[in-house]
Amino acid sequence: VRKTKSISVVRKAVAVARKSDAKIGFVPTMGALHEGHLSLVKRAKKECGFVVVSIFVNPLQFGPNEDLEKYPRDLNRDERLLKSVGADLVFYPDVSDMYAPDRSTTVSESCVSKGLCGDARPGHFNGVTTVVAKLFNIVQPDNAYFGKKDYQQLQVISRMVRDLDIPVRVVPCAIVRESDGLAMSSRNIYLSSDDRLTAPILFRALKAAKAAVEAKKVTTAKDVVVGITKLIVGSGLSPVIDYIAVKDAVSLTDLRMLKGTMVIAIAVFFGATRLIDNIEVTVP
Ligand code: PAF
Repeated sequence: VRKTKSISVVRKAVAVARKSDAKIGFVPTMGALHEGHLSLVKRAKKECGFVVVSIFVNPLQFGPNEDLEKYPRDLNRDERLLKSVGADLVFYPDVSDMYAPDRSTTVSESCVSKGLCGDARPGHFNGVTTVVAKLFNIVQPDNAYFGKKDYQQLQVISRMVRDLDIPVRVVPCAIVRESDGLAMSSRNIYLSSDDRLTAPILFRALKAAKAAVEAKKVTTAKDVVVGITKLIVGSGLSPVIDYIAVKDAVSLTDLRMLKGTMVIAIAVFFGATRLIDNIEVTVP
């Protein structure tokens, strides 16, 4: 797998691939890759002749008290994994390659990015939309692959692409889970062994909520939130709940009565580690 820090090398490699009629697939990441990321690359490989993966821990999307410094970084390991799934080009710029010291332009979405993680992490989504817009301009892919684990991110980026007529197809991809149901995340390594054992309660609670909605045992968003809260609080280690919410699956607007296709999204602190998870559900 070829790798570069240079924007112009990416542009040239993509231009060459395009000349031979290859569709360009793109998987943006912050590295510390796991099976979830690799599933995106495999899907991209299936659908595109040339696959670019970016590895960039984007400082713009971290809050002042977040884990920018300690975010796991292991480029050699990431490279090996990307080679094993057939990525064609790895773009791993430094911060100085991406941001001029006097940069003064931000891409900001002001609706879908509100609520959920947008409330808990002020400025986070402006950082995400700004870097993803830049990466889209650098790579100019046909398809870009995003996991549903970061569900709000996926919908914010879809809205940005629609609103700004960015010629990229955003491809949503299923969450990849550990065998006990915990959604894969680069941050799972922060969990203590006790918390790691308790963490699958998140997915168990989401599945129970989905089953209750589908069986029409609940009719309001509040019923769903109360049901999930009970399961999580009863799980023993008393994790601190950041949010449990039921939203319209695309616009992420609040719902009172359950209807249409929705996403049930949760964020819970296990010690200092904040885990998120979600599940889509449609009222029958
Ligand atoms: O999901 C991520 O890893 C990041 O938010 C992304 C999309 C690579 C932007 O930095």
